Amino acid sequence: MARFPTVRPRRLRRSARLRAMVRETSVEPVDLIAPIFVTYEDGRHPVSAMPGVEQLSVSAAAEEAARLESLGVGAVLLFGIPESKDARGSGAYAADGIVQRAVGAIKERTDELLVVTDVCLCEYTDHGHCGVLTPEGVVDNDPTLELLARSALSHVEAGADMVAPSDMMDGRVGAIRGTLDESGFTQVPIMSYAVKYASAFYGPFREAADSAPQFGDRKAYQMDPANADEGVREARLDVEEGADIVMVKPALPYLDVIYRVKQDTGYPVAAYHVSGEYSMIKAAAERGWIDEDRVVLEAVTAIRRAGADLIITYFADRLARMLGGEE
Ligand code: PBG
Repeated sequence: MARFPTVRPRRLRRSARLRAMVRETSVEPVDLIAPIFVTYEDGRHPVSAMPGVEQLSVSAAAEEAARLESLGVGAVLLFGIPESKDARGSGAYAADGIVQRAVGAIKERTDELLVVTDVCLCEYTDHGHCGVLTPEGVVDNDPTLELLARSALSHVEAGADMVAPSDMMDGRVGAIRGTLDESGFTQVPIMSYAVKYASAFYGPFREAADSAPQFGDRKAYQMDPANADEGVREARLDVEEGADIVMVKPALPYLDVIYRVKQDTGYPVAAYHVSGEYSMIKAAAERGWIDEDRVVLEAVTAIRRAGADLIITYFADRLARMLGGEE
């Protein structure tokens, strides 16, 4: 091995052009997926725990999607806030539900932008859990599968390009794949929230999506943050059941898991830079403690470097403008 002074790593850091030429990791707008919260209410409604994020009416969501498309953002991920909730989350699979309407409106306004829908019951159930409950109040895995599959099918019938189940029931990818295939949608991909942790970083999202559990927590279905081997097993299972893209969520606290899932599956990996990760950066930047743009770029670069192909982030808009050379 040649050594100092022959070897001087600093030689390649001397100019911006040289640094750009030897850079190993890049982030492009097309790698980004922007979450959108759609509501029946008119207009735009700020989410207080997520400065800069709003709940949007169907027409505002379509406008927003068209703008994101023009910035080169790859996809939007839709979450719905229904008019009313019930024990079985029927708003999730209503043919004229909020997400189903938004998909149609966005498809009319956009051309190549991919419309992905989050498939889960927690925004639609009155108890706020991600599945139906047993009389004892436990989330009942197998009966939930049929409702998730119905939700996914209704999203695809409305025109969704891809579905993203986020409930963490066992077997749901297989159930959704089976239902889509039977209905002739063999070409519609599934991006599964394969490795989703029971994370405190989802706090602000639950205000945005109005989906906080009304009792207990999600630890009986989402993963223990202490486990990484199990994350790899979850990702493998989803791939076996027919997932086309596997997701790890949250992102920055789980870079080791992103790395391992990528190495192990060789599948496209998405990482969800979640609401709490967003709001922490926003809060520190508001106080002048960090430079928001630089921190955001560093965060998504780290997520890509760990092995994520796609990043779901509330900063998609800002990042796309930054990467596109707009200030
Ligand atoms: C629904 C869902 C959640 C998130 C995405 N889909 C919340 C949860 O599981 O409690 C969190 C996203 C975020 O925090 O940005 N199950």
